[in-house]
Amino acid sequence: MHALIVVAHPDPNSLTHSVAGHLAEGVASSGHTFEIADLAAEGFDPRFTAADVALFRREAPPPGDVAAEQARIDRADALVLAYPVYWWSMPGLLKGWIDRVFANGWAYDEGSDGKIVKKLRHLQVHLVAIGGADLRTYARHGYFGAMRTQIDHGIFDYCGARVGTSELLVPAETQDPRSHPDAAYAIGCNLFKASERREAPEAA
Ligand SMILES: Cc1cc2nc3c(=O)[nH]c(=O)nc-3n(C[C@H](O)[C@H](O)[C@H](O)COP(=O)(O)O)c2cc1C
Repeated sequence: MHALIVVAHPDPNSLTHSVAGHLAEGVASSGHTFEIADLAAEGFDPRFTAADVALFRREAPPPGDVAAEQARIDRADALVLAYPVYWWSMPGLLKGWIDRVFANGWAYDEGSDGKIVKKLRHLQVHLVAIGGADLRTYARHGYFGAMRTQIDHGIFDYCGARVGTSELLVPAETQDPRSHPDAAYAIGCNLFKASERREAPEAA
């Protein structure tokens, strides 16, 4: 199986890139393939333009960069998003990628009767957010719950994609940030475990 690992961080030496790299190693070690989509290095433009509005209104085909992103998600069995928490959510670069790529007609269909047809039911999604604040801060204000509502449910459930992993990696008193790579490697190793179990023939 194949994973598309999307990273949204401008610094290749960041903790976020390290997490994405270790997650990819875990995927490879379990016999699967991956592609890393480094949105900053690739120069993805997150600005929602008139061409994107035309696509949303079903008046024009997708711009070339949007079609290319949709095609590489179509080639993947799993989509992984690895990103730093910025202002208790995802960075603008990644939000713009979702705004533009998860378009009407590809991620979902809005019928003339107003009903939504979810078009990404085949896709599994894994979310790995890397935060700088500690867990007590997240718990006190319900920030991670808010992220799950907005991202896991608000975006991916809306399109029918199944969120398999939704992790928040933060520095804790008991957890040095350097252990993040180990957690990421384990997420990568387990990425396709549930699908493998479903596909395995029943024991005689
Ligand atoms: C603009 C900006 C906003 C941030 N906002 C948050 C935040 O709301 N919550 C949080 O836990 N960390 C926040 N951080 C810290 C990042 O999540 C931190 O960079 C993260 O631990 C990832 O490390 P890395 O940048 O080395 O990948 C923010 C950092 C920046 C630059």
